[in-house]
Amino acid sequence: MSTVEAPAKARAQIKERTLRKDNWRLYPITTLVIFTAWVVYATVRAFWGAAFYVPEYHYLTPFYSPCLNEICGDAAEFGTFLPAETKGWIPFAALSLPFLLLFRLTCYYYRKAYYRSYWASPPACAVQEPHKKYSGERRFPLIGQNLHRYFWLAAAAISLINTYDAILAYHGKDGGFGIGLGSLILTANVILLWAYTLSCHSCRHIVGGRLKNFSKHPVRYWAWGVVSKLNEKHGQYALITLGSLVLADFYVMLVASGTISDLRIFN
Ligand code: FES
Repeated sequence: MSTVEAPAKARAQIKERTLRKDNWRLYPITTLVIFTAWVVYATVRAFWGAAFYVPEYHYLTPFYSPCLNEICGDAAEFGTFLPAETKGWIPFAALSLPFLLLFRLTCYYYRKAYYRSYWASPPACAVQEPHKKYSGERRFPLIGQNLHRYFWLAAAAISLINTYDAILAYHGKDGGFGIGLGSLILTANVILLWAYTLSCHSCRHIVGGRLKNFSKHPVRYWAWGVVSKLNEKHGQYALITLGSLVLADFYVMLVASGTISDLRIFN
């Protein structure tokens, strides 16, 4: 009588690090360069404390929203909790930036990207990793990745604030309604931020999870379908929003510092 053997626990013993013949290093190296450059840029800008607001047109960079320092002036729509002396030490958007950072840090897409690029764990599919042990996300500190759903709630609230900023950016020279290139850039950025936030895997679960059947919940079923469709491109939105945030901030910085004038379309 034949016996059924239990599957071997050890990994397959292959001498080569990988049998892949394609340029698998390209993804982790490119990701590492892009993420590092972005973090350096965002950190410098967040602590800079200047060229963040154009009072004439109400353009506020997303890196300073909500603006909480005493020197935010008109841009302080939600109060000024931070004294002017903290400039350079505490970002003006100290209330939102930590949550946004944690939201992106625990995002499924970014996890895949930085596990591969920074930890080489694993560096790519079917490529041996240098680490001897792997405890997954079951122990501290990586068990904290499970808090992602709560950071999603904070990110959704901050997206609402960014939306409010984008609406205020339709401000004309004479105090009424106006449109400039800055209004359009800030609006495009906010639309992309919503696409990223709503396409989140946790959002999909919040909208359509824990239901026994969809037929009794047609609105949630419809919303789940929309989020599922967006979710297919979540990785792309994650990357595109890195670019749109930098573009929005850079444009506001150029106009606020007087380096360029805003291109006005109306008023
Ligand atoms: Fe990426 Fe939630 S999975 S933001």
